[in-house]
Amino acid sequence: MPAFCQARPAQDAGRSSGPERPDMNRAKFYVTTPIYYVNDQPHIGHAFTTILADVLAQYHRLLKVPTHFLTGTDEHGQKVQKAAQAAGITPQEQADRTVVRFQALWKKLHITNDDFIRTTEERHKKVVQKILQDLYDRGEIYRAEYDGWYCVPDERFFMEKDLADGKCPECGRPVEKLTEANYFFRMSKYQEWLVQYIEEHPAFIQPESRRNETLGFLRKPLTDLCISRPKSRMGWGIDLPFDPEYVTYVWFDALVNYVSAVGYLEDSALFAKWWPASFHLVGKDILTTHTVYWPTMLKAMDLPMPETVFAHGWWLSGEDKMSKSRGNVVRPMDMIERVGVDAFRYFLIAEMVMGQDASFTEDAFTRRYNADLANDLGNLLNRVLAMIGKYCGGAMPEPSAAALEEPDGKALWDKVQGAVRGMEAALEQMKLNEGIGQVIAAVREVNRFLERRQPWTLAKSEDPVPLRNCLYAASEALRVLGGLLYPVMPGKMAELRKALGMARPKPDIRRFGAWGVLKPGVPVRAPGALFPRLVDEKEKGAEQQTELIPTAPAAAPAAPAPSVPPPAAEKPPAAEGLIEYGDFSKVQLRTAKILQAFKIQGATKLLRLEVLMGEERRQIVAGIALHYEPEQLIGKTIVMVANLKPAVIRGVESQGMLLAATKGERLKLVTVDGDQASGAVVK
Ligand code: ME8
Ligand code: MG
Repeated sequence: MPAFCQARPAQDAGRSSGPERPDMNRAKFYVTTPIYYVNDQPHIGHAFTTILADVLAQYHRLLKVPTHFLTGTDEHGQKVQKAAQAAGITPQEQADRTVVRFQALWKKLHITNDDFIRTTEERHKKVVQKILQDLYDRGEIYRAEYDGWYCVPDERFFMEKDLADGKCPECGRPVEKLTEANYFFRMSKYQEWLVQYIEEHPAFIQPESRRNETLGFLRKPLTDLCISRPKSRMGWGIDLPFDPEYVTYVWFDALVNYVSAVGYLEDSALFAKWWPASFHLVGKDILTTHTVYWPTMLKAMDLPMPETVFAHGWWLSGEDKMSKSRGNVVRPMDMIERVGVDAFRYFLIAEMVMGQDASFTEDAFTRRYNADLANDLGNLLNRVLAMIGKYCGGAMPEPSAAALEEPDGKALWDKVQGAVRGMEAALEQMKLNEGIGQVIAAVREVNRFLERRQPWTLAKSEDPVPLRNCLYAASEALRVLGGLLYPVMPGKMAELRKALGMARPKPDIRRFGAWGVLKPGVPVRAPGALFPRLVDEKEKGAEQQTELIPTAPAAAPAAPAPSVPPPAAEKPPAAEGLIEYGDFSKVQLRTAKILQAFKIQGATKLLRLEVLMGEERRQIVAGIALHYEPEQLIGKTIVMVANLKPAVIRGVESQGMLLAATKGERLKLVTVDGDQASGAVVK
């Protein structure tokens, strides 16, 4: 039984260590993001990890699993100090100014974190100091002269043997030779234990490629970790409790946030409630710190390991790494303003294949948005609700007891339930893009179901039952599919639920498997453009030039008759108004059958038609929306200009033009008298 349909009660579901894969039925869910450096403003990569954590947290909350979601900022260390110097302010001011940008972005992105930790907070600093003192007292930390190589941008020391061609093995940049006295954590003594732990716990580091990467790293001897910085060189950090000349190395400080935020050494009940973490979500850039430093630190502190460190890939800008110096960093704030929060969240989660890198381009965004959200999901919702409005008086129709027994009804419901299981599996395996793919495939299936059942034809029949069953089945499918997408797009999916007449904005996952949840008789309301179609920047110019082409039959009479006759010079002489037969024969007119018709969101006069012309399927944009409902058009055989150059109108390609007879306010399509095949030549 899928957990989505029947969540197990928390008390008998407890498991804390070593499942083969993360478990949706866990007793509690504690998820973290990296704490981000406050040296620069947030970008799309930060937004991605945080959205991913949010989506996981929201799914678990829907499953009624007690959930704790932590994010925050990493405010110490050289990067922050340098940024402050460059801005002519103190590091604390730098942190204070930048942290609000992260917080504002999370608010904008509807992030539902339960806590936000800043490493400059007292609650964090005192825990770091207690840990340091304890490890020092127990000989886990010692003082030594260190002769090594230092990577300034990474703030990392390396032994000579660890360098890559004399450069930093992490980033490839030049390193500086440095000798100083420092404090070291005895990381090396945990190497054997760590390798064994990773081997025995396949879920500990994910995905598998990253687990192999860490195991590969651990084939070389592990050195002890330098955990201090002399104040003379870098003073922005937490004081070592046992030597006032030093501050703590930023990574030793930062990693501790995952336990300091949940009360370690301060509030044992709170700590017992949340630790160990279920998921540390990180980017692949910080794999070693999270899968080597952190576990050995925890081991020395005698704490249990987190269940899973999950390291996702990079968001690239097209093919390239995003970097400030290349000027190709995608800033989420700008993007959200243009496309909306939910679409942005959707794109990031739907597009990222979790173990790999993903490429961000405006084109890819527009394509996916228009295909999945505007055309498929948004259009389906509007289509169904518009028909309920028209044929059922705007109230959710009552299905018959046998609604599911109709062959199409059962097949559709099975497909929807397949998406429920697909999303559940996707969550367990951290393959959210695949789960979303299944939901959108099911949305397309609902659209096909409507084409097969033709509610606009059923509406003409004496028997109201088939029509009600059909529209109710489509609505139930939308309830479940919208519910599955709720954690990804909470705002828009709450709107969808409201449009379906549901009282609560949040779905109840346990009812995803139940048929017949929507209440008959409840008023429903088409929400308008849930996802207005986006026009590609490149297409905008073309749109302006070509807008009139397919709408010509409708637009011409709609224009007010000119009160002043056109100047004589512009009036063509009668003879020139006549054409030769050869001119007419250039225009190829053919019959075409309308297969589908859709409103184009944001364009009140336009419909997008999918037509069959002989063997060929084409799409045309026609300015007839004020005269025909989409569902009225399906099945009509019309006449179209078949050899018109394609044009892009409102971001949609139009591959032809239909003919209509117009006078005054009236517009009637030109159709053929009686049966004729589609693709027939009109002459
Ligand atoms: O490393 N693609 O902070 P940071 C995907 N303070 N994710 C990206 C990304 C990209 N292009 N760029 C950044 C630090 N990220 C430390 C962490 S944790 C105890 C301390 C995300 O500001 C990704 O999650 O450099 C990455 O690991 C993190 O931001 C790095 O953020
Ligand atoms: Mg970084």
